[in-house]
Amino acid sequence: MFAVHLMAFYFTKLKEDQIKKVDRFLYHMRLSDETLLDIMARFQGEMERGLAKDTNPTASVKMLPTFVRAIPDGSENGEFLSLDLGGSKFRVLKVQVSEEGKQQVQMESQFYPTPNEIIRGNGSELFEYVADCLADFMQTKDLKNKKFPLGLTFSFPCRQTKLEEGVLISWTKKFKARGVQGTDVVSRLTNAMKKHEDMDVDILALVNDTVGTMMTCAYDDPYCEVGVIIGTGTNACYMEDMSNIDLVEGDEGRMCINTEWGAFGDDGSLEDIRTEFDRELDLGSLNPGKQLFEKMISGLYLGELVRIILLKMAKAGLLFGGEKSSALHTKGKIETRHVAAMEKYKEGLANTREILADLGLEPSEADCIAVQHVCTVVSFRSANLCAAALAAILTRLRENKKLARLRTTVGMDGTLYKIHPQYPKRLHKVVRKLVPNCDVRFLLSESGSTKGAAMVTAVASRVQAQRKRIDQVLALFQLTREQLVGVQGKMRAELEYGLKRQTHPLATVKMLPTYVCGMPDGTEKGKFLALDLGGTNFRVLLVKIRSGRRSVRMYNKIFAIPLEIMQGTGEELFDHIVQCIADFLDYMGLKGAQLPLGFTFSFPCRQTSIDKGTLVGWTKGFKATDCEGEDVVDMLREAIKRRNEFDLDIVAVVNDTVGTLMTCGYEDPNCEIGLIAGTGSNLCYMEEMRNIELVEGDEGKMCINTEWGGFGDNGCIDDIRTQYDTEVDEGSLNPGKQRYEKMTSGMYLGEIVRQILIDLTKQGLLFRGQISERLRTRGIFETKFLSQIESDRLALLQVRRILQQLGLDSTCEDSIVVKEVCGAVSRRAAQLCGAGLAAVVEKRREDQGLEHLRITVGVDGTLYKLHPHFSRILQETVKELAPRCDVAFVLSEDGSGKGAALITAVAKRFHPPCNEN
Ligand code: BG6
Ligand code: BG6
Ligand code: GLC
Ligand code: GLC
Repeated sequence: MFAVHLMAFYFTKLKEDQIKKVDRFLYHMRLSDETLLDIMARFQGEMERGLAKDTNPTASVKMLPTFVRAIPDGSENGEFLSLDLGGSKFRVLKVQVSEEGKQQVQMESQFYPTPNEIIRGNGSELFEYVADCLADFMQTKDLKNKKFPLGLTFSFPCRQTKLEEGVLISWTKKFKARGVQGTDVVSRLTNAMKKHEDMDVDILALVNDTVGTMMTCAYDDPYCEVGVIIGTGTNACYMEDMSNIDLVEGDEGRMCINTEWGAFGDDGSLEDIRTEFDRELDLGSLNPGKQLFEKMISGLYLGELVRIILLKMAKAGLLFGGEKSSALHTKGKIETRHVAAMEKYKEGLANTREILADLGLEPSEADCIAVQHVCTVVSFRSANLCAAALAAILTRLRENKKLARLRTTVGMDGTLYKIHPQYPKRLHKVVRKLVPNCDVRFLLSESGSTKGAAMVTAVASRVQAQRKRIDQVLALFQLTREQLVGVQGKMRAELEYGLKRQTHPLATVKMLPTYVCGMPDGTEKGKFLALDLGGTNFRVLLVKIRSGRRSVRMYNKIFAIPLEIMQGTGEELFDHIVQCIADFLDYMGLKGAQLPLGFTFSFPCRQTSIDKGTLVGWTKGFKATDCEGEDVVDMLREAIKRRNEFDLDIVAVVNDTVGTLMTCGYEDPNCEIGLIAGTGSNLCYMEEMRNIELVEGDEGKMCINTEWGGFGDNGCIDDIRTQYDTEVDEGSLNPGKQRYEKMTSGMYLGEIVRQILIDLTKQGLLFRGQISERLRTRGIFETKFLSQIESDRLALLQVRRILQQLGLDSTCEDSIVVKEVCGAVSRRAAQLCGAGLAAVVEKRREDQGLEHLRITVGVDGTLYKLHPHFSRILQETVKELAPRCDVAFVLSEDGSGKGAALITAVAKRFHPPCNEN
């Protein structure tokens, strides 16, 4: 009895002594609670630095956006391939996520070796090897000749700008293949797969193993919002609020952040806790100076740390009687599985003896106890450090959610965590101690990270299918060069038809003579009134022209024309116009003054002289009754008479294109074309009199108002019109009319956009499938909004804000799509307009028999002026389609009122200006 007691006493004493000895030697490795709290606070700071745009480039903890935005919701389904590369084992898998209802996942997998010469050899060979393994797997499982989406779990730090791309920042752990860092691993693997022609695989998602783990666990527990790996390497990811992620546009919802916490301390911030053993281990590693936190924690390094310590202790005579074996001198001889075995509760001591013996040592009882304790100190420190960083993440989650208590689940994986007998318990305990206000459930990922990667791929594949449908719609608006050349040719033909007496009556492009026969020459002078009706604004102007110096002074006032007047009776409309003139004269102190007036009337008018114009038909937003077929000058005169307050001499009625041409021609005599890309779309140009069969005489030129907006009204461009164009046309004031205008001008582009958005929403591709009242409202997308949305300077958030101001509750994804739709529609408009203009300049060149034509176009209109890309695309198109014309564009800064006044001045001087019918 006494002997037993003596033995027990002896053993306890022996143990105590050994533990004390080791503890003294490893004093620096034992971290107090205080230190852990301090490390936790430091890691919180590191996360902040990694997330902020200005500090991210220098932050050691990279906080990488993963573009994984939502945890699985059970609606995922399909069959996927998966690769899991970067942990201790390389696996290829096929994952089947069940259809509907019951969540069910079936997996088939195959492990493949990763020999050192592959993972540390040539990068391209590494990817070829991976592709070969995949091919082998597909062969074995009979999966070839079928299309598969693939999720790639790639357990290294990658900078992502989208889910299906990732630029390797640096290799970590055991990998060091050449020529891969800084390249996109998805395209590398995609390229490598091309060799296998019978393999149809599309890599849809690249995920870190932490992300895969989190998603795997979240499939079973929706509270899971953190993923932690404690395996070969160590790392964690968690769901961060988008508003805190500077590097990604958008602020709604959350995105998973791959912290890459393994690099914590790489900037020296953990030097106070690193020991001489850590430094020695680091120097002997593949990536010295890097992943310093990981090197204190993870499986690849734990055994080696123990070995370094044992060797040091032996050298110091503290172990094995000072004896060292050559195995103990050899790097990598102690592995994490040995550490785990030595720390086993019951067999631990026996295991220790065996392992040491295998290392060629002859340990005493005391040595075994001491070595066992070394293992404990090292693995304890590992768990403590992990706990501190995890506690920082949990605190961040709690603070983001503004909760006093957080209930959450952490998905766990990694061999160290799984096979070490004490590790999980210790980790959980310390975490709970460090964050007492978090109720944490630790959930082991039984099936690795692949199930989660498949979930991400499933979502990506749904998004891809949706994207395809959006692209199909956008493709309708992408015109080929051939199509544009076709439009140019048809326009050219229509111009000719409109000019010829025989074909004119049926021509869709009316080619209306304007009786403006020359450009202002600078001798014009006087004081004129001008009206400018038919664009976005109705203006009344006073224009003072001084001869000689080409100086014009203008005073103007904008008046509103209420919708009920625009679409009321003709009398009401003209009475309203006269009322505005009266107000203006009053305002200018010109009451009673008898001034000559030029009337810019931006609608098609058939003219027989400069001061006569019969309205052919209303266009754009006007539809006043009893005007079509009437002379608008007469109507204005009558309205003035009805008012009986003042008299005005209406000298000229001009289209806005003509006014614009004159405004610009006053400055640049080479200007022979006037173009409006505004509410409506139209063009005028100087034509040879001999070509104008409707007007007598062959000498000189006359300005022709093409009214090209009507191009296509005979169906000649129906091949490029879309269902959306038809819908816009049907909902307009003049169905079937002005088809070209409806594809090219400001009043309709927004409407086309709206029709597309409605359709996409109906298909469930936008606005969560909800068609709001606002979206049903005609005219919400005015040109100025389109222009704002498409501005390159605008961040996504601002686009979203504009949409929200328009009453459209859009997410950031929605905003991207809306912007793309606007872009497609406005681009087509600019190209079509360019094709039309190319037809005109080419005609002018040919008519003059020139090899090369230099010509200036005067342009006006809100679309041209406000839209960020319209003018550029228009100009590029003209250049492309009319390469032999050198077309200069000048912007009409003063509107067409000035031009109308100039025409009035000329007309007053030479009345009648040119041959009349
Ligand atoms: C596996 C996952 O279960 O764990 C891998 O499927 C992950 O994606 C690995 O990389 C991490 O642990 P270890 O110990 O294999 O590095
Ligand atoms: C103005 C002209 O500057 O532009 C008007 O003065 C013209 O005559 C108008 O109708 C065209 O642009 P919008 O965009 O106002 O239709
Ligand atoms: C390394 C990698 C990281 C990975 C971790 C666990 O730290 O850099 O991306 O998540 O190991 O495998
Ligand atoms: C409409 C009108 C046309 C005008 C153009 C630009 O197309 O019919 O006359 O020039 O809009 O305002």
